[in-house]
Amino acid sequence: MPHIAIISSSIRQGRKSHRVALYFKTHIESRQFGSAEILDLKEYSFPLFDERLKFLPSPSSLILDFAEKIKSADGIIIVTPEYNGGYPASLKNAVDLLYDEWHRKPVAISTVSDGPFGGTQVITSLQFSLWKMRARTVTSTFPVTQVQDAFDEKGNPGDPSVWEKRAGNFINELLLCIKANTE
Ligand SMILES: Cc1cc2nc3c(=O)[nH]c(=O)nc-3n(C[C@H](O)[C@H](O)[C@H](O)COP(=O)(O)O)c2cc1C
Repeated sequence: MPHIAIISSSIRQGRKSHRVALYFKTHIESRQFGSAEILDLKEYSFPLFDERLKFLPSPSSLILDFAEKIKSADGIIIVTPEYNGGYPASLKNAVDLLYDEWHRKPVAISTVSDGPFGGTQVITSLQFSLWKMRARTVTSTFPVTQVQDAFDEKGNPGDPSVWEKRAGNFINELLLCIKANTE
């Protein structure tokens, strides 16, 4: 069974996109697609980036923990909000910390907004950063519009008929990429 790490990117007070990360964890586990773990950047609370892990003389245990979890995961889902047309500094801060850990890693991206466009303007810039480190980004996306209405605080979808099939297709593409990676 593959192990999937879900990066929850928003560290904002009153954040809403974390609901989508909770939803993916429940969805993956209840459908027995694999095991799932949320890597919550709010909990990691990394200091502002000043060097890549491989050049840090004495990295913190939190950075080492994050790196190990990215390295050992079979696939990653990144849940990110859109802030002014880009992905948040908290995510860039964490993405740039690592390098080899991203190499050949299957990564699927879910973008989130409180408006009607689902944060989709984030996709190309985030994919490009990940490509630079040779991650294998999955072509399927999972945009969430009006997140505050779509999911409750525990990650339960307001209307499961809207989200369950979409989530199944999205995760299936990640699983196919994970499978191709091991062949
Ligand atoms: C600094 C900032 C910039 C934002 N810019 C956008 C934006 O460009 N497009 C958009 O659809 N929503 C934007 N939003 C609203 C987010 O979509 C909203 O906060 C949503 O709940 C996801 O972010 P969260 O997980 O931090 O709550 C912005 C929010 C913040 C805090």
